[in-house]
Parts: sequence; C-alpha cells; structure tokens
Amino acid sequence: MISKIKLNNFRNYNQLSLDIPSPTTIFCGGNGNGKTNILESLYFMSMLRSFRTSKIAELKKIGTTGFSIMLEIANKNNWKSIFEANYIENRTLKIDGKLISKASEFIKKIKTVVFSPEDIRIISDSSGVRRRFLNIFLSMIEPAYFAALKDYHIALKIRNKLLRTRCQDISLIKSYEPILAEKGIIIMNYREEYLNLLSKEISEMLAELKYSNLSIVYKRQNGTRTIDDYLHRFETEREKEREKGFSNFGAQLDDFNFIYNNLPLRQFGSMGQCRLIALCLKMAEMNIVCKNSSNTNVIALIDDVTGELDERTEAFFYNITNQAEQRFFTFTQIPKASNNILDEATIFNINNGIVE
Ligand SMILES: Nc1ncnc2c1ncn2[C@@H]1O[C@H](COP(=O)(O)OP(=O)(O)OP(=O)(O)O)[C@@H](O)[C@H]1O
Ligand SMILES: [Mg+2]
Repeated sequence: MISKIKLNNFRNYNQLSLDIPSPTTIFCGGNGNGKTNILESLYFMSMLRSFRTSKIAELKKIGTTGFSIMLEIANKNNWKSIFEANYIENRTLKIDGKLISKASEFIKKIKTVVFSPEDIRIISDSSGVRRRFLNIFLSMIEPAYFAALKDYHIALKIRNKLLRTRCQDISLIKSYEPILAEKGIIIMNYREEYLNLLSKEISEMLAELKYSNLSIVYKRQNGTRTIDDYLHRFETEREKEREKGFSNFGAQLDDFNFIYNNLPLRQFGSMGQCRLIALCLKMAEMNIVCKNSSNTNVIALIDDVTGELDERTEAFFYNITNQAEQRFFTFTQIPKASNNILDEATIFNINNGIVE
C-alpha cells in the first residue's frame, strides 16, 4: 500500500508531501486544481509513463527543469520501501536509495488500473486507442507479452524503414520477418486469450446488472495463426509492401469490436451505453489484474467516473474497486449517497496545487 507521496515540480505542484493512512483516499476540489495530476503521478510510478500524454516533458512544472516523484510503499508486514523517480535532465530511478538502471526492474511494483472519463475513447476512437489499452493492460500482467511487444516494435520499425526508403536488398527486408512472425503470434495469442476473458467477464457483469449482452470480437488477421502461415503471408504481401512503403498486416494493425445487443457499439451505441461498456471493460480489467496478482499492490485510480451511474451500477462499481488493495478517488463534489467505502476514506481538499 502507498503510505506516502512526494511530488516536486510535477504538473501544478511545487512541492507536495502527503501521508496516506488508509486504503481509500479521496482528492476533492474544483476543476483544474490538480486532482488528476496526483493520480497521474501514481500511475507514472507504476509504468514510468503517463495515462494522459506520451510526452514526459509535459509532466514537469512549467518553468522548471524537471520533476521528481517519491512513493513510500508499505507491505502487509509494514515493511517499507522507497521508490524515487527523478526526471531532472537525466532520469534516475532508485529503490531504497539504490540506483536502478533498468526501467523493467522499477515498473509494475504497484499495478494500477485507471478509471477515467476518457475510457469511452477505447470504444469510440480509432483502433490505435484499443491497441494501446490492450498493450498497457497485458504488459501489466504478462511479462512475456511486454517482452514480445518490445522486440516486435524494434523489428517492425527497422523493416518499415527499409520499405519506406525503397531498400533494394530483399534478403535484408526478409531477415526481419521470422522475428515479426514469432513475436507477432505471441502478441496475437495473448490478445485473443484476454479479449475472450474480458468478453466473458463483461457478459457476467452485464447479466448481473440486468443489461443486454455484450461480446468482444477480435478480428484476427488472415494468415496469422502459425509461424508458417505468417511467413507465407509475408511472401504474398512483400511486393505490395515494397510498393506502398510500409507493412500491410501484423499486430500493429490489430483491432477488436464491441458487439452490444447484436450491434456494433461504436456505430450504433448510445452515449450512455458506450460509457457503461467502457466502465465494464475497466472493471473487467480490474478483476483480471486482481486475480493475476492475488490483489496485492493493485491500486485503483478512479478519476471522477461515478457521476452519471445509476444507483445499482454505482454500488456494483464500488464493490469491484474494493478488491484492489488501495483506491484513490477524485471528485469535484463528494457523492451524497452514503457508501461504506467512501465513509472510511481519507479526504484531501485540493486548491490550486495546495492540498489540505
Ligand atoms: N506541466 C504543468 N505545469 C504547470 N501546471 C500544469 C502543468 N500541467 C497541467 N497543469 C495545470 O494543472 C491543472 C490541471 O490539473 P488536473 O488535470 O489535475 O485538474 P483536475 O483537478 O483533475 O480538474 P478536473 O476536475 O477538471 O478534471 C491546470 O490548471 C493546468 O494548467
Ligand atoms: Mg481531472
């Protein structure tokens, strides 16, 4: 459990030092005061990236040279570890004062699941947002996925550059294909497995909440079942790819569909239905992450998403987030309806980067 948070020149915070005494914490304040920024800092310590931007430079307080974040994490026996990330000129990562050179040894010590109003974009936006969701989710729980994805993207980048620059050395282009096939299949197999799992979890939730049924359909691309198929597909696509100057198929083009009540949600769903399914998707993610890590060090970051839920869904949602070892909520106004989880929370009021 996170027991202390310190921020230095992070977003709109000069210096912030908070003791976190309970498993449920609420950050309350008006728009633009810095609630989401704190959740972002916690997520950052989990993944060394933001859930809002791919540009780390945006995270430092404007006008400063860099930021740092420190978390104290206490385990069940109250044994404490200090995690520090410094992004002032160079990145330095430390655990208990000891320099950590590899990001992989630093990340995922806490596992975060973010609930945000932006989650609806997973349904409504282009396929890149859906792949990003899968990549982050699966990287969090499956180290082999994370490793395959990294290797795949390195090979893809080089092969795409060869295609783009109209490289005449076909054997060089070909030399990257076995690794793409091997890693591509690992990535797709995980995606298929977990999309089925998410689909099942969501169906069960919707049945319990008495809503219509949903299935997630993964559009597995042709010729991507076995390494031989995949290599064969390269043989048939390569000339086209050389003309176009980029890859024509593969994990980087994957997509999946949400079918709600027999219709594709993206085209036919109402705003409320899309919001409900996006929430269910994240709740399903939460369930799987919790099962996968026996609930330990799972942190739910809940960014003002409960506002428009009906009572039944809201109660269901609080129960799901209760599985996490720790929860951080943001609210512009604390909900009036009494709720066991919120009743036991520590509340911080945030006013323009100052926390009381
Ligand atoms: N790099 C930065 N340097 C300084 N201030 C920043 C930086 N990035 C964001 N801000 C400021 O942080 C504030 C937004 O913080 P945040 O997104 O946490 O607000 P919030 O409390 O979650 O608001 P809302 O209720 O609208 O979601 C804005 O005032 C913005 O100008
Ligand atoms: Mg916010």
